[in-house]
This record gives sequence, structure tokens and C-alpha cells, in this order.
Amino acid sequence: MKRRGIYPGSFDPPTYGHIDIVRRSLEIVDEVVVAVVYNPQKTNYLFTPEERLDMFREEFTEVGDRVIYDSFYGLLVDYVEKMQASIVIRGLRAASDFEYEFQMALMNRHMKPNIDTLFLATGAAHFYTASRLVKEIASFDGSVQGLVPAHVERRLREKLAATS
Ligand code: PNS
Repeated sequence: MKRRGIYPGSFDPPTYGHIDIVRRSLEIVDEVVVAVVYNPQKTNYLFTPEERLDMFREEFTEVGDRVIYDSFYGLLVDYVEKMQASIVIRGLRAASDFEYEFQMALMNRHMKPNIDTLFLATGAAHFYTASRLVKEIASFDGSVQGLVPAHVERRLREKLAATS
């Protein structure tokens, strides 16, 4: 039986921090499902779920089918169950992430006691990287080199140019 971990998030856009978490998760589980949350009520995403998944796809071409790309709408725990998994993977950066993440993990476990969250400490180089900040920096034409791959930066610039 393959051990499958679900890595959920907004990933708007994916950063090197997210990519690092997927790579390291592959050392722990057999399959990682990159699961982009889709919320039709939330309209302030820059990228569509499919665009966000495409950016991940570009990073993991050599990994083959050990990375699965998907999006979901609704409760994470329901999605995890639907995907026949029991592990949620989340990256932890600073202490400021902790309270939110802890609350979510416990709430998810309250709803489905068989589902557990595996936290990976973010790579030291990505400690301060956040999609929100990357978008803000790029929107003011600042450099996001070292925070996101070049193809993500290119898509960011194209998207921002198209939406401004
Ligand atoms: O990258 P993000 O935006 O911090 O990811 C948050 C995410 C997608 C993990 C969280 O918002 C989520 O699980 N959303 C699905 C709805 C849900 O299950 N809500 C209850 C959480 S206790």
C-alpha cells in the first residue's frame, strides 16, 4: 500500500519554499498530492488553480507520477479521505505560522481523528518567503529572483502586466 501525503495550499504562486517541501516530502511518503484549494467565493487569486498546478508540473517533470496535481473545493479532511490518504503535509516557517497551523491541524483531527498533519520545517533559505510578499514585490517591479523559479517569475510578470 502506497503512503500518500496531501500537500494543500493556495500556492498563488508556488515559491521555492513550497517546491522544497514537495521534494522533501517525497523522501518520506511514496506519493505527494499537490492540492490547490479552489474557492469560487475568493476572487483575489492572481492565478487559476490550473495555472498554479502547471507551475508545479514544470518543477517536477523528472519525478514522474510520484507527484499528483489536483485542486479541491470544500473541507480538506473530506478531500483527504476522498484521495484515500491520511497524511496532510504543511510547511512551517516562523512562530507566526504556528498558531494558525496548530489550530487547523487540531480542527482537522477533531473532524477526522484518523487524519494527521505532518509539519516540515521550511528550508532555512525560505524562512521569509511568502507568495503574498512575492506578488507584492513583483507588482512594484522588484526582484523576486531566488524566491521563485524563473518560469514562475515570467508568469508573474505576464499576469501582472495583463491585469494592470
Ligand atoms: O496556503 P494556505 O492558504 O495557507 O492553505 C490553507 C488551506 C488550503 C490548507 C486551508 O485554508 C484549508 O484547508 N482549506 C480548505 C477548507 C477547510 O478545510 N477549512 C477548515 C480548516 S480547519
